[in-house]
Amino acid sequence: MIKKKGTVYRLETPATTLVLKADTAQILYYGKKLVSADWCEALRSSPCRLFSEYGQGDFNEQSVLLVNADGGFSTNFVYSKSKILAEKPVLENLPSSYGESKTLELKYVDATKVALYLYYTVFEDTDAIAVSAKIVNGAKKEIHIKKLASVQAELTGRFEFITFNGAWARERRKNARAVCGGTFVNESRAGASSHAHNPFVMAKGEKGVFGFHLLYSGNHKESMTEYDGVTRVIAGINDFMFDWTLGAGEEFCAPEAAMCYAETEDALSRQMHAFAAEHVVRGKWKKRERPVLVNSWEGAYFDADSVVEMAKVSKDLGAELFVLDDGWFGRRNDDTSSLGDWSDNVEKLGCTLAELAERVRGCGLKFGIWIEPEMISEESELFRSRPAYAMRVPGRTPVRLRNQLALNMADEKVQNFVVRTVSDVISRCGASYVKWDYNRMLTDCFGKGVAAGEYFHRYMLGVYKVISKVVKRFPFVLFEGCAGGGARFDLGMMSYFPQIWTSDNTDARDRLQIQDGSSYGYPQSVMGAHVSASPNHQSGDSHPLETRFNVACGGLLGYELDVRKLSEKDKKTVAAQISFYKEHRKLLQFGNFYRLGDSFGGDYGGFISVSPDRGAAIAVIAAEKRTNVPPPRVAFKGLNPAYVYEVTARRQENYENNLSFTAGGDVLMCGELFFPDFYDDASARENSGCMYTRMFLIKKQKNL
Ligand code: GLA
Repeated sequence: MIKKKGTVYRLETPATTLVLKADTAQILYYGKKLVSADWCEALRSSPCRLFSEYGQGDFNEQSVLLVNADGGFSTNFVYSKSKILAEKPVLENLPSSYGESKTLELKYVDATKVALYLYYTVFEDTDAIAVSAKIVNGAKKEIHIKKLASVQAELTGRFEFITFNGAWARERRKNARAVCGGTFVNESRAGASSHAHNPFVMAKGEKGVFGFHLLYSGNHKESMTEYDGVTRVIAGINDFMFDWTLGAGEEFCAPEAAMCYAETEDALSRQMHAFAAEHVVRGKWKKRERPVLVNSWEGAYFDADSVVEMAKVSKDLGAELFVLDDGWFGRRNDDTSSLGDWSDNVEKLGCTLAELAERVRGCGLKFGIWIEPEMISEESELFRSRPAYAMRVPGRTPVRLRNQLALNMADEKVQNFVVRTVSDVISRCGASYVKWDYNRMLTDCFGKGVAAGEYFHRYMLGVYKVISKVVKRFPFVLFEGCAGGGARFDLGMMSYFPQIWTSDNTDARDRLQIQDGSSYGYPQSVMGAHVSASPNHQSGDSHPLETRFNVACGGLLGYELDVRKLSEKDKKTVAAQISFYKEHRKLLQFGNFYRLGDSFGGDYGGFISVSPDRGAAIAVIAAEKRTNVPPPRVAFKGLNPAYVYEVTARRQENYENNLSFTAGGDVLMCGELFFPDFYDDASARENSGCMYTRMFLIKKQKNL
């Protein structure tokens, strides 16, 4: 709901209030819901502003910076008008949120006739507010946009800047630092949102937590600046190497961001989850239970010839979808060749891709396929026939990452080629699922006819154009994004792909942290999570099958190992796991998700997924055994304190002897739960990582 009184706008979400003064571009208030928000004029001396520009005596990080038609950097955007829009403006070719909403449009104009528009969209059912910005060049000459942030929020007080950083196989580790007397930055310059710096950040202060979440998959930058007791948060496209020429009469839209306030990190995460699941993820799969899949990668790597045998066993275990990963095309026997040649490797497969897909379907499974369409191997037919498609700086030796080059996705010819080839692969094999991979960061950014300062963004616009065309063409296909694991794990990609491969690291202990870090900004319904072989191929550590399953239940369950090699006992266990998961997957995939403990250094970690009516929940607790240290005292979350629950602890693979007890919701959440036998499970001893887990099935029995 948006209310207006003079030039003061009050944006109401279910639990927050944002009060803006349009003519002075001030934030009068942002935080916990105010009942008397109509009377916010008393706050008109607020120092907090909606945007910041150069040339008016503000020497901090700006949200907007132009080289004007007059050749100078100075702007003075003065209030022009404001209105409430019934329809959310469309962001051409960019990802965006959607749904029943109202939007406030604010317009400010500089003396050079360049206009700055700010948009604030409020939904009925979430505290997340979608924000975006646009520059329209009303001058008669071209201007240069050096920076246009999607959102600026200024907050009074001191804050911690919380970011989610890492690298390949250890994405999204939570980091916090106090912001004081300067600018602190979280940014990607890698061409993708990156493994290293996720575009979701939080500002945590005494009054609560503010989240800023960019719907963008390219170079991004989030900064927090503290000066004089005010903390300025800015998020948007990275201004690193950015220089966008805007001709007379043209406009430029910054990508959308979501901002949100909540009293606690937990509450903020749940708002972000609901926003992503309800207003970002779209299409047929939005709220659909996702299939249990078996992926061939860690089981077969490039030996895609054993697929039908693996599919047969997968069916017996209860899987629903078989995904043929890398290695099925061109002459791809390792990662040195064939990207771009999306023709069947009949010699290896023993048949065409279409025949293979039919055989998999013949086993009673859906068929899924891996493709990495934005890339090119120099050792490929495509490179030989169309070398100009590769992204390279003329006259320089290109940097190869994973032995490959990227395609120049800023070029329309290349975009059309990718749409054509991906569509052809999907149609050819009748895929029900596509894993869209992207396995290198960008280095040799160059496209003929594309200004250097525009390249990164034009690359992303090209990618979005291609992906949106393909997704529209195949509305029933389930797309899973991937980028060397989780290097494009962002709301931009989630606007097109309903799920994303969270990380290439499938080690249960590492995964617990990766999923935990991811869960601050993203719901479990977007996180691919697979049980793989033990010892784990990335870490070398071994974890019991049940531990691997328990952790993978924190996301969208799949198996990624050679299922043929499982012992008969393990096959029985996996079949029981899959059948349990199917029975409870609605709860696991779409329940209200809370982190338990603190997997980044606490005594224990884990999660609980609770049904909307709080009548049922599944929790997983994980703790590392230390000599002569007792198991941790744990607390569940999200339950109803006024209910009595029956709790069943699923012991490691020993389902017959499950322990049950009854307790009040308040008792289960009080932090004193103690399971003396937590480290006793015999099978858990084959456990070099020493991480023990237990899953709890929690069901309401009655009211207190
Ligand atoms: C990337 C992906 C993996 C797998 C391989 C195949 O690393 O993240 O899951 O698909 O590529 O080469």
